Amino acid sequence: MDSHAEVVKSIEPFVEENLKLLMPVKDSWQPSDILPHLETEGWHEDVQQLRRQAMGIPDDVLVVLVGNTVTEEALPSYQTMVNRHPGVTDNTGASDSPWARWSRGWTAEENRHGEILNRYLYLSGRVDMHAFEVSTQNLLRNGFDPKTGNDPYKGLIYTSFQERATKISHGNTAVLANKNGDTTLGKICALVTGDESRHEEAYKRFVWKLIEVDPSETVIAFAQILKNTVTMPARRMADDVAADLFSQFAVVAQQIGVYTMRDYADIIEHLVVYWGIRGLSGLSGDAAKAQDYLGGLSKRYLALADKMEAHPSAQPKLSFSWIFNRSV
Ligand SMILES: [Fe+2]
Ligand SMILES: [Fe+2]
Repeated sequence: MDSHAEVVKSIEPFVEENLKLLMPVKDSWQPSDILPHLETEGWHEDVQQLRRQAMGIPDDVLVVLVGNTVTEEALPSYQTMVNRHPGVTDNTGASDSPWARWSRGWTAEENRHGEILNRYLYLSGRVDMHAFEVSTQNLLRNGFDPKTGNDPYKGLIYTSFQERATKISHGNTAVLANKNGDTTLGKICALVTGDESRHEEAYKRFVWKLIEVDPSETVIAFAQILKNTVTMPARRMADDVAADLFSQFAVVAQQIGVYTMRDYADIIEHLVVYWGIRGLSGLSGDAAKAQDYLGGLSKRYLALADKMEAHPSAQPKLSFSWIFNRSV
């Protein structure tokens, strides 16, 4: 693994070139650009307007939105994760290395996601904010293990997967928000989606470079990340009410099509194609096995998705503290 850290270090010039995938702060959107300005004369009407629109959001969409917001609010765990991976680490906290600048710039963009969604939820009046905040605090206390074993290859592969997963999830929420007449929420989710999309592109490029430099070990790392189902960042959230809050949230996300088994399969296939896994040659024996495994993997999840869609299991109604214990 020391050698992985060295390889990751060695691609720093490539990371430097791709720092352009972060937006300059002066060109970045900020939460206050979209939400009502409470310092202006017409603030009351602006807030009323936001709340009228938010009334159109169905409970199931609201539940998924809250779960997505809790996920974003656990950003301290994600920055900690980045800094656990040797080679990528920001050694001083203000290091000038390309990896350190990338990880701080990425964190700074991500920070706006929890910020804007949290403020929207607060202003909407639709959510039990205490229950939402308890869920976030518990998630941060409980932590998050991405099962990368602190291997920087796995860390970058995992993050490529997650950035795409969040892009899909926020993107689908934007569509549902607009469909239900809440164009403010639609805009918020679209902005977040745009960020996730740039981040996804960056992480995918970093891994693409690793494949160029060290194909066998990178392919093995990719297969190992996918051997078990990819752990979701909010896996350990808890509201001190539901027995398994994350699983409940995941069921609703699947039901309303915000993040589904089919999305999971599609992400795998997208990464396999983007990184040209099937076409790699000259791999070590173990890497060739990993390549075979990866080449056939999305099909297995697609079959599972087909089955789930053909025979949706009858789910009992699930109650959520986030929406005052109503059931969806
Ligand atoms: Fe995010
Ligand atoms: Fe992200």
